[in-house]
Amino acid sequence: MRMIDLIEKKKAGKALSEEELRWLIAGVTDGSLPDYQLSAFLMAVIFRGMTHQETAWMTDAMAKSGDQVDLSSIDGIKVDKHSTGGVGDKTTLILAPIAAACGAPVAKMSGRGLGHTGGTVDKLEAIPGYQTSLDRETFLENVRRHGICVVGQSGNLAPADKKLYALRDVTGTVDSIPLIAASIMSKKIAAGADGIVLDVKCGSGAFMKTPEDAATLAREMVEIGWACGRKMAAVITNMDIPLGNFVGNGLEVAEAVAVLRGQGPEDLKEVCLTLVSQMLTLAGKGTEEECRILAEKAIADGSAFQKLKEMVKAQGGDDSVLEHPECLYEKAKVFAVKAPAGGWVQKMDAEGIGRASMLLGAGRETKEDLIDPAAGIVLLKKTGQPVREGETLAKLYTNRPDRVKAAEKTLLESCIIGEKAPEKLPLVFDLIR
Ligand code: URA
Repeated sequence: MRMIDLIEKKKAGKALSEEELRWLIAGVTDGSLPDYQLSAFLMAVIFRGMTHQETAWMTDAMAKSGDQVDLSSIDGIKVDKHSTGGVGDKTTLILAPIAAACGAPVAKMSGRGLGHTGGTVDKLEAIPGYQTSLDRETFLENVRRHGICVVGQSGNLAPADKKLYALRDVTGTVDSIPLIAASIMSKKIAAGADGIVLDVKCGSGAFMKTPEDAATLAREMVEIGWACGRKMAAVITNMDIPLGNFVGNGLEVAEAVAVLRGQGPEDLKEVCLTLVSQMLTLAGKGTEEECRILAEKAIADGSAFQKLKEMVKAQGGDDSVLEHPECLYEKAKVFAVKAPAGGWVQKMDAEGIGRASMLLGAGRETKEDLIDPAAGIVLLKKTGQPVREGETLAKLYTNRPDRVKAAEKTLLESCIIGEKAPEKLPLVFDLIR
């Protein structure tokens, strides 16, 4: 087989065969295909697309390009959740313990944040001592014993995706629905769960800007999951504004704890209950309505919060900080950002808030950057709320006062204050099963 023929075929808008796609992914994995030919192929996919069948074959080949986690030694239907990425998205810290407290085992591999979006692994590492890197047997044993373990992604999970993603990132070929679907699903399939719930974000802070595009991506991923024998559900949620009020690693742990203690902001609670009801339904715990009640009970009786503490302790973390999580950020210096005008907050762009938080030290610009767990932003006003001139819009937490001016500018540029209340957008746009 020759790569030039596959490029020509895709350039002409034809579908590749299973054999051709498996050969291509084998060549990506063993490094025998040069980057220039792969880049040309990826660009052809951007313009010509891929059929569902091609995407499913490519995903399967990518999922099998490295380690595949075998969860069969754990009893029950193992469930996982994947978010396509956002700002203030601390849902894993809330719904993983809820699911486990309701009897659905969660063996989860999460990612780090890059750019304006946060990552679960960085949030968990804000808890002193928490180990996000465990050997495979300890990972499995923790799930068998506690019903839950959340770690970072193993280095050799879907290595073909790792190589292709790095190439897509620098060749303008990220924004293709089949390529995104194959990239995400290859890692999820390799991670071994029986049931997968996808939180597909749409809006200014997400890859997909409209609910329609998000639904197309969600359907593609759900179909791939089915083709690989997994139970699937996808929820399309709003990422025009950050989820919840706290953005930053220690701050987000604190907000997750608040929700698990029956407090916390309504938007975050609602998205978590919607997602975890789907996880519990896939795990066979009842109908959607019954599962929502189960989840609410696990919050109300404290069992979900206890499960989070149990997980943290089992992974070497200091679970006592969860009793007073403000200690995770209160040593940072705090700066108030005042509203430049009165009126209504009409827009609060999630991407801008994410970039402001990154400037304060909560995220990385390069893979090597160190994260300050105490850095971040507390939003006191969000889209749809009235504000007076000079009132505090947000508080900036940082140990880098030299960055405050730039962060404040970025935050204010992301906000539009106008005379009228904006139209209220739904929090959950759609559910795909
Ligand atoms: N996340 C991924 O893992 N892959 C993509 O292509 C986009 C988002």
